[in-house]
Amino acid sequence: MIYDIATISGDGIGPEIISSAKKVLAAIGKKYDAVFNFEEAPMGGIAIDTLGTPMPQSSVDVCKKASAVLLGAVGGPKWDNAPVRPEKALLGIRKELGLYANFRQAVLYPELKFASPLKESLLADGIDAVMVRELTGGIYFGERGYRIGKYGREAFDTECISELEAERIARSAFELAQTRKKRLVSVDKANVLESSRLWRKIVHDINEDYPDVTVEDMLVDNCAMQLARNPSHFDVIVTSNMFGDILSDLMAALVGSIGLMPSASVGNTSAGLYEPIHGSAPDIAGTGTANPLATILSAAMMLRLSLNMEEAARDVENAVKKALADGYRTPDIYTDNFVKIGTERMTEVIISNILI
Ligand code: IPM
Ligand code: MG
Repeated sequence: MIYDIATISGDGIGPEIISSAKKVLAAIGKKYDAVFNFEEAPMGGIAIDTLGTPMPQSSVDVCKKASAVLLGAVGGPKWDNAPVRPEKALLGIRKELGLYANFRQAVLYPELKFASPLKESLLADGIDAVMVRELTGGIYFGERGYRIGKYGREAFDTECISELEAERIARSAFELAQTRKKRLVSVDKANVLESSRLWRKIVHDINEDYPDVTVEDMLVDNCAMQLARNPSHFDVIVTSNMFGDILSDLMAALVGSIGLMPSASVGNTSAGLYEPIHGSAPDIAGTGTANPLATILSAAMMLRLSLNMEEAARDVENAVKKALADGYRTPDIYTDNFVKIGTERMTEVIISNILI
């Protein structure tokens, strides 16, 4: 099989980690007799610098015709005052491709217990939770603006959730919950927000179509506390765009490093977008120390969800587990007595685990 994959390397460590994922996919191609044709689609700060806009139409077109998109990271302090920020491209491409469901899985690898900030007693039952984040609505895309109010300048953003948006993300979460423990935690702020009250009502209406799944409503502040105190309570979590953004960083920290958490964004077709949840990390860009595992694991999600290559996906995931079990660590997850290595060496280790 031949697959066209669009890559958005982006900014900061983006090009380094995308290069790792491409090498890993090339090894998978060799093993499974598949060919991946990569086409780079410049977006973010690099596109501002070279093409004058963070999301050039030509790049959108490359993504639209691909079987899947693999994204590194966009943004950096260099473009803080750009008229249109690089992040606009990330939000824009999610919207353009209709990728309304974002899946972020937090797994605590037993070998990485020491990298978690939680006490060992709280980790006894492990962590394996998936955040299902609504990705194309909410405050990220709501009405916004500036005005002059009673106390001077005011800026506002609005949280708005439509029936259609809440319903389709709820269905994505219920479907996932059915394949796991059949427990869904729906996170909102229904004690304050009207948008959350509609969200809650719709989640319960949709629950009628998935009677085997039990729903627990949880307020977002309480959810943050419960994640820190009792992370093994969670299996599938569904929430809005902004709550999902915030809580998924917390989940990533609990399992040791944001450098380990992959994500998949999907819509109504099989063509999804796969990206690590961390950002462009400009502070370590070019030092060769970035952790490529979140991007490599994102490529595994791509193999599974967009290319229907389940066995290959598992192969990549097992290669990552083996690398960790064998003691290899990039600096972000390094603790005493392990083998500290950089991006390139980690990539080689993963490839040799795949080709064993
Ligand atoms: C994420 C990121 C993005 C988001 C930023 C870079 C716009 O934090 O994917 O979690 O908020 O969605
Ligand atoms: Mg985020």
